Amino acid sequence: MLNLLIFGPPGSGKGTQSVRLAEKFNLIHLSTGDMLRAEIASGTELGKRMSAIMAKGELVPDEVVIEMIASKIDSAKGFSGFLYDGFPRTVEQAVALEKMLGRRGMKIDSMLVLEVDHDELVKRLILRAEQSGRPDDKNPAVIENRIDVYKEKTEPIINYFKKKGVYQPVNGVGAIDDIFMRLSEKIEIFFK
Ligand code: AP5
Repeated sequence: MLNLLIFGPPGSGKGTQSVRLAEKFNLIHLSTGDMLRAEIASGTELGKRMSAIMAKGELVPDEVVIEMIASKIDSAKGFSGFLYDGFPRTVEQAVALEKMLGRRGMKIDSMLVLEVDHDELVKRLILRAEQSGRPDDKNPAVIENRIDVYKEKTEPIINYFKKKGVYQPVNGVGAIDDIFMRLSEKIEIFFK
């Protein structure tokens, strides 16, 4: 089973590209953001506790998302692998994921990092706020905080995985189809 990380700051296109890549390569798309929003939409106790944290653009506690991912990995059958979107987001989450995979005889095969400049990120998220209205896109200060949290807590994971030889930067600016092709080329190698 392949284990691929799609990585990048808020608005870099992780979700957009993951849906298409998962379909093309028969992967399970595991988005911790989507899982948390589903908890909120269902009105669960967990969702209620997490919604205030997410509305501020802060990270929810590591153990919450690690638990969510572990339960999904064990229920997966008949797929070529996993595509992790928005997870891991801290070095602690990265270490936990590696341990989780190690116990099951797997490892991270590739970390695909979408590179998008700050102004383009903000532009995309403000546009999405007008169209679909995700609460954490509505306030420009929250968008900036999400980008700051990414830089402070999430970006250090890049160095962590660089040392393991799985880091693959991808230009995330341009037409969605072109970026999809750039990412696909990096994944096709595993199917040859
Ligand atoms: P999450 O849902 O992961 O959000 P995010 O990282 O802020 O990322 P986005 O969904 O905003 O961006 P994306 O990179 O997926 O881009 P997208 O394809 O959507 O997390 C939300 C919150 O949940 C976090 O802040 C945190 O509180 C919590 N959380 C989640 N996971 C966690 C974890 N592991 N640990 C702790 N807390 C966690 O695209 C964005 C927009 O741009 C879309 O409108 C899209 O149509 C558009 N777009 C995409 N590509 C292009 C392009 N090439 N050109 C123009 N527009 C484009």
